[in-house]
Amino acid sequence: MTPAKVLITGSGLYTPPNAIDNDALVASYNAWVDAENARQQAAIDAGEREPLAHSSSEFIVKASGIQSRYVLDAEGILNPERMRPQLDERANDAPGIQCEMALAAARQALDSAGVAAADIDLVIVACSNLERAYPAVAVELQQALGAGGYAFDMNVACSSATFAIDNAVNAIRGGGVRRALVVNPEVCSAHLNFRDRDSHFIFGDACTALVLESEEVATAASSFEVVGTRLLTRFSNAIRNNAGFLNRVTDSDPLAVDKLFVQEGRRVFKDVCPMVAELIRDHLSSLQITPSSVSRLWLHQANRHMNDLIARRVLGHEPELDQAPIILDRYANTSSAGSVIAFHLHHQDLEPGAFGVVCSFGAGYSAGCVVIRRR
Ligand code: COA
Repeated sequence: MTPAKVLITGSGLYTPPNAIDNDALVASYNAWVDAENARQQAAIDAGEREPLAHSSSEFIVKASGIQSRYVLDAEGILNPERMRPQLDERANDAPGIQCEMALAAARQALDSAGVAAADIDLVIVACSNLERAYPAVAVELQQALGAGGYAFDMNVACSSATFAIDNAVNAIRGGGVRRALVVNPEVCSAHLNFRDRDSHFIFGDACTALVLESEEVATAASSFEVVGTRLLTRFSNAIRNNAGFLNRVTDSDPLAVDKLFVQEGRRVFKDVCPMVAELIRDHLSSLQITPSSVSRLWLHQANRHMNDLIARRVLGHEPELDQAPIILDRYANTSSAGSVIAFHLHHQDLEPGAFGVVCSFGAGYSAGCVVIRRR
């Protein structure tokens, strides 16, 4: 029996209500730098310490293309005495923060697919950071939605969405699942060190959702067929976060900066761009699709220059804006949600038969490529 074709029939996006532009973020960072330098004045005067340097909006835009980001809480981040979001701890019988974001995006995706939650057989919550070890956020979401089947969480950092799509596709092809929901609730502001000049501007929060269905049960008027998926991992410490349950027993400082996101940005850029361009080109070639017949690349949204370079290497020419849409200017890096936000906001205009590629990449290193065709 040939496995069923798998279609992406719906997508959803939850955007948090608060936006922080670069000027506001930089003003708070610089206020903290001035206060910190004043606190350390004696050591600076004695030549024992370098004064901290200011950040600048011009640098951020030039180096990354990011203009603004959405966050769950802006006040705590912008307070120079706090510089991290302030979120309420919730009781066990209240919906979790990630479940709440996931619900909003999932309901939108289900509506756009014309699918009832009860008809979902598999819920995957896939993201870089999970608010607790267990019970799985996905199981909480399954119950909150009234979905059937089973649910689990997974984490492949920024590549979580494409790895989850691959899981969902295989589950549907295997025949045990007819409809799957893949959800990416990213609270990146909680793992970002807002006191690190090199990276304080990088991330934002968002949640995306996709409905995937077997062709045999799908009824949506418009959909994308998943033509193929390909995943890749290669170990690297260039993006790392050492927060984990062993911190308590290794007696390490839970507030040390390595318990937050740390990266060597330049190295990531140099290592990841060629790896991703090759992955996409090889994957297309294995599917006998020429790069020139690809209408759109929905790439992971970390850095504008990275996306331009990868698109150039894949397409063989400078991409038009509509060939590789950029959403990081407004959203910043939303980890696994980024490429799905790009897809969600920029797919309506594609003609039937048009090929597109959803591709994410990040810590691990990891990269995932999903080739789709408009129906
Ligand atoms: N404001 C002003 N200047 C800053 C600054 C800031 N916020 N942060 C760094 N600089 C300075 C540096 O001190 C350095 O100065 P120097 O040349 O005098 O030493 C200069 O700007 C360049 O710094 P660098 O870190 O080399 O910048 P970059 O061009 O590599 O851009 C990133 C930094 C992070 C935007 C970029 O490397 C990047 O996006 N990399 C890929 C990241 C990625 O994809 N990560 C995946 C995460 S999932």
